[in-house]
Amino acid sequence: MIKAGIIGTGVGLKHFEAINNYRGSRVVCILEKNQKRISKLKKKIKNVDFLNSEKKFFNRKDINFISIASYDEYHFSQIVKAAERKSNILVEKPICLNFKELQKINSLIRRKKVNFTSNLVLRKNSLFENLRKKLKKNNIYYIEANYFWGRKEKLFKWRSKTKQYSLTLGAAIHMLDLVCWFLNSRPISVFSKSSNKVTNRTKFKKFSFATYLFTFPNNVLVKISADGVCIHPHFHTVKIYEKDQTFISDISGQFHIKKINKKLNIKKMNFEYPDKKNRKNLIRGFIDSILDGKSIQPSIKSLIDLTTACLFADKSLNEKKELKIKYLK
Ligand SMILES: NC(=O)c1ccc[n+]([C@@H]2O[C@H](COP(=O)([O-])OP(=O)(O)OC[C@H]3O[C@@H](n4cnc5c(N)ncnc54)[C@H](O)[C@@H]3O)[C@@H](O)[C@H]2O)c1
Repeated sequence: MIKAGIIGTGVGLKHFEAINNYRGSRVVCILEKNQKRISKLKKKIKNVDFLNSEKKFFNRKDINFISIASYDEYHFSQIVKAAERKSNILVEKPICLNFKELQKINSLIRRKKVNFTSNLVLRKNSLFENLRKKLKKNNIYYIEANYFWGRKEKLFKWRSKTKQYSLTLGAAIHMLDLVCWFLNSRPISVFSKSSNKVTNRTKFKKFSFATYLFTFPNNVLVKISADGVCIHPHFHTVKIYEKDQTFISDISGQFHIKKINKKLNIKKMNFEYPDKKNRKNLIRGFIDSILDGKSIQPSIKSLIDLTTACLFADKSLNEKKELKIKYLK
């Protein structure tokens, strides 16, 4: 039986909804450092212990599942503490913020043999699941995937204070994961460019827009962008170009383009998007895998590779050149 502890009550409340009462699971305690938030939540959520001491949280003997939805800078140390006590671990993206932390997570999770995954929710989106089924992977030559955040104001809260905050690890990571999952593959190299034109006079001191060109095996080119400042609805645009067909999903709609008898045929598709109701299925899928002893998706290997590729994308920004991505063993 899953007995969970959750850290953080922003998106962490979505974790609560996904876990509590699912296949007999229970959320036993919640760690939240904001006392005001605790007082409010206590009125709504009963039968859960609210804590503000990390030490007390990690000493709890009655939890076997730790769900980490704290700010990015805490993920690494909290993963280490959860792995040391051999809990099942679900962590929000990104799993960590630098190469040193990534190496440690890679060796620790494997050594402790704990169940581990990260909340890459787009994999459970009905549109993207259906697109994935329709693709002829070997015919793809180009993919464009853009993360339009459309919530610029969020950059000025905790993200402005997080020293190593990166829009690559915060936003582009979702699109790169989607592409790796579509292609069942990982990029060979990356060349990135960034801009802070819209935010340079604000307290957000990092880049607020970036674009990345990834080369995948078989010369598949992938252009990703992470746009933290756009005047655009929150949206994940995907365009997939194959030898014989094209798929486009953007704010104007979803289209499947083919040539039939030498004539261009543009068919509208109507898959669910943004499909928020299915987001909790990633966490529930993780619980299913633990309870049924099945393989975990996204796997630790795919998460380590994904984070490596994102860290190389940021390294390319600093070094201003295309870099071959060196993956961890
Ligand atoms: N998977 C997704 O699509 C998705 C969506 C949103 C956010 N996130 C991730 O979730 C994390 C939290 O973001 P958010 O949007 O929920 O932020 P938020 O500001 O809305 O909420 C975070 C809450 O966690 C608490 N908190 C932070 N660090 C803590 C710590 N060390 N101990 C105890 N409490 C802590 C804060 O007080 C706050 O109440 C980030 O890592 C973010 O990248 C992921």
